[in-house]
Amino acid sequence: MTQTNRKPFVGGNWKMNTDAAAASSLIDAVIGSLNTDSVDVAVYPPFVYLREIAAKASGANILVGAQDCWHEGNGAFTGEISTDMLKDCSVSTVLTGHSERRHVIGESDELVNLKTKAAIAAGLIAVLCVGETLDQRDDGQTDAVNETQIRAGLAGVSKESLGLVVIAYEPVWAIGTGKTATPEDAQNAHRTIRELIASMYDQQASDAMRIIYGGSMKPGNASELMAMPDIDGGLIGGAALKAADFHAIIDAGVSQTA
Ligand code: PGA
Repeated sequence: MTQTNRKPFVGGNWKMNTDAAAASSLIDAVIGSLNTDSVDVAVYPPFVYLREIAAKASGANILVGAQDCWHEGNGAFTGEISTDMLKDCSVSTVLTGHSERRHVIGESDELVNLKTKAAIAAGLIAVLCVGETLDQRDDGQTDAVNETQIRAGLAGVSKESLGLVVIAYEPVWAIGTGKTATPEDAQNAHRTIRELIASMYDQQASDAMRIIYGGSMKPGNASELMAMPDIDGGLIGGAALKAADFHAIIDAGVSQTA
């Protein structure tokens, strides 16, 4: 495998957590001790706090992201948020296909594809989340599920647009459960995803694609996961709600670049 200089990407997915005061103090604490530009750092707060978080993050080396978007420009889509609205809030990245949206809300691969394409068309970095459930894993379907979700999620996405795509491999059984894939299992899934990108696009696209791991990543396991050759960072849920833990994970990314 050719190694390239993929810049690590560490995102904090706050999910439906915090209130206005907690979101404000969390972003203050995250920004306060952030002193690296060798890792792309992003936070994904709830929609309603985006403007305030973005105002605080302005000038800091941190991307502000949304946990979801809608793919139509505007119109009668009650409750939804368009990519233009996100850009109005200084958002520069969006999660698409997070497992909670797929499995709790019921989003299809087709909808995830529409959202991913809308994010890219708006110039946002789309973090396309994929991963297998426990049943699918037990059934030996991990690579097949990832392939289906990636082929569908990236349908119609050109090679030229891939600079705006990060893939997050998040085994559903590891999300919020405290269970983590072993570094070897995660690496196997990431390597297979990278080979898939090579077959869908080409080797250069594959070498350049950032593939990050999510699922109970924390300070105690981030370094060994990110030390794997095809793991380029993390999407962090629970541990992103504690600035010190989030920083320790960012530091694990920084040490991969040293
Ligand atoms: P977790 O969540 O770190 O709490 O497992 C990860 C995610 O859902 O992105």
